[in-house]
Amino acid sequence: MTIKKPITICIINLKGGVGKSTITALLSRYSFNKRKKDVLAIDLDPQANLSQGLMHQSYSTFLAEKKASIVEVFSDYIPPNKRGGPQPLDAEAVSELILEEGERKLELIPSRFDFSDALTDAVRPDPKILARFLSQNFKSKDVIFIDCSPTESVFTTAAYHASDFVLIPVKPEFFATIGFPLLAESLQNFKRRNKSHGIEVAGVIINNAFYHGGNDGGPEKGRAMKEITDECRKNGWHIFSHQMYHSRGYPKLMRGDYSHSGDAGLFWTVAREIYEHLGI
Ligand SMILES: Nc1ncnc2c1ncn2[C@@H]1O[C@H](COP(=O)(O)OP(=O)(O)OP(=O)(O)O)[C@@H](O)[C@H]1O
Ligand SMILES: [Mg+2]
Repeated sequence: MTIKKPITICIINLKGGVGKSTITALLSRYSFNKRKKDVLAIDLDPQANLSQGLMHQSYSTFLAEKKASIVEVFSDYIPPNKRGGPQPLDAEAVSELILEEGERKLELIPSRFDFSDALTDAVRPDPKILARFLSQNFKSKDVIFIDCSPTESVFTTAAYHASDFVLIPVKPEFFATIGFPLLAESLQNFKRRNKSHGIEVAGVIINNAFYHGGNDGGPEKGRAMKEITDECRKNGWHIFSHQMYHSRGYPKLMRGDYSHSGDAGLFWTVAREIYEHLGI
């Protein structure tokens, strides 16, 4: 039995606003457009930034139409809607088509603002349900990217269960590594409890490092970089050598405005290094 196929990568940092959703959206697009991959992106954050960043205006239609989302993946059925009672889940029911070229697609399992409320109010969701759903429905994909929320929860564990690799974005700023010990511990605990699981940290992406060709960030960024390097060495985490520059192009790209992306247009150098590092 040699099924293998999608390399599944979760993007996580237990600190907020470090670029997780931006990186997930851009890596998904890069994989589809430049690497010609069949891609699935999964939004595991109730803030739904990835969903908005990939769907743009159609996200509000998606909400208005009450279409299935990651919520239904965790509850394992589609709730009744006028007739037919609860409906079974499959890949098609929960994925939104973002881009298509021949046989290849960039698809998204979107999130909803009521994601955590809808599920954690009731019984604790099964953290293996996402992994199981992917193993049954998305084996033909080449790559799967999972955008995590900045707070640890059962959904973080669900992302670990489903992933081969973890990517950790970090901003070189005051308190940059505040979440690192927590993340390292959470991964160690996961591995201890799931001994046959092969999850590994692919590496740390330095985001928003400094203005390209100008400001080097000054002493504060230098101190933060040293802290990041020390913490990564301690945990045995690789740091990617290409960094994401500060650019107003990033929020523009997330809004769906592809004109003049500025230094955000250099994201492909980071993406290429990730691909080379993982050998995909
Ligand atoms: N390199 C960059 N240059 C300029 N702005 C950036 C850069 N990276 C991210 N941003 C902006 O910073 C904000 C936070 O980014 P993003 O939403 O991707 O972070 P996040 O880690 O997913 O946040 P959260 O923890 O809330 O999920 C967004 O407005 C995004 O457009
Ligand atoms: Mg986010």
